[in-house]
Amino acid sequence: MYSGPIGIFDSGYGGLTILQQIRRVMPQYDYIYLGDNARTPYGTRSFEVVYEFTRQAVERLFAMGCHLVVLACNTASAKALRSVQQNDLERLDPQRRVLGIIRPTVESIGGMTHSRHVGILATEGTILSASYPLEVKKLFPDVVVTGQACPLWVPLVENNEATSSGADYFVQKYIDALLAQDPLIDTVILGCTHYPLLLDKIKKYMPSGIRVICQGEYVAASLQDYLMRHPEMDVRCSKDGKCRFFTTESKEKFISSASLFLQEPIEVEHITLG
Ligand code: DGL
Repeated sequence: MYSGPIGIFDSGYGGLTILQQIRRVMPQYDYIYLGDNARTPYGTRSFEVVYEFTRQAVERLFAMGCHLVVLACNTASAKALRSVQQNDLERLDPQRRVLGIIRPTVESIGGMTHSRHVGILATEGTILSASYPLEVKKLFPDVVVTGQACPLWVPLVENNEATSSGADYFVQKYIDALLAQDPLIDTVILGCTHYPLLLDKIKKYMPSGIRVICQGEYVAASLQDYLMRHPEMDVRCSKDGKCRFFTTESKEKFISSASLFLQEPIEVEHITLG
């Protein structure tokens, strides 16, 4: 049986923060990163559109030889994961798997919050989907979850403004709005893969004593655990330590923006979806 790389999909560059952590923990595997940069952001798009775009990306990654695809995007995980698993996997190939990043993130919080009040900062799409509160309710029914959409954070990151002084206003604004909703919050999940690039500013405006969670390390640990529990999938994942990058935008644009996320030179290929 032939093996293939693990597919990592995001609407844009944010999934690179997840890829980085996964490669840190599992450098021996091969990866394909696919960023749908030409159609980002997904955060403000409808359920139907995010599902359609995500399905196209999964089909393409399967066609490239991936047996396992991680939706390294909260918006796609929230709005498309279940539909792809239920409507498409059987038809495409029931042996392949698509995983999201919301559940592994939620699993991490149970032992962290003492007040049992948790905040989620995410895109409008992820907040409106209520995926985080629903997942938390399943695993930790005693935990109160409050969400705050941060619609300007992804554009700040994508436009290389994450460290500019102009970003401070919008970082503080959404943090204050979250804590105004629930002052008992002691743990905040950054529920968007772009947000770790704003971490310095987020920490600046987050009151000390509130723990901020970047999901990459929890997603990486969960994927490693998944492959240990599923040796039949592990043998289908090739292990030459290689990583290839694909974007629906121009190669040059991807390389210049990806350098904000990755500290290594990369080669990128352009593809079209849909
Ligand atoms: N990276 C996506 C996420 O984690 C957000 C970017 C977008 O809106 O497309 O939700």
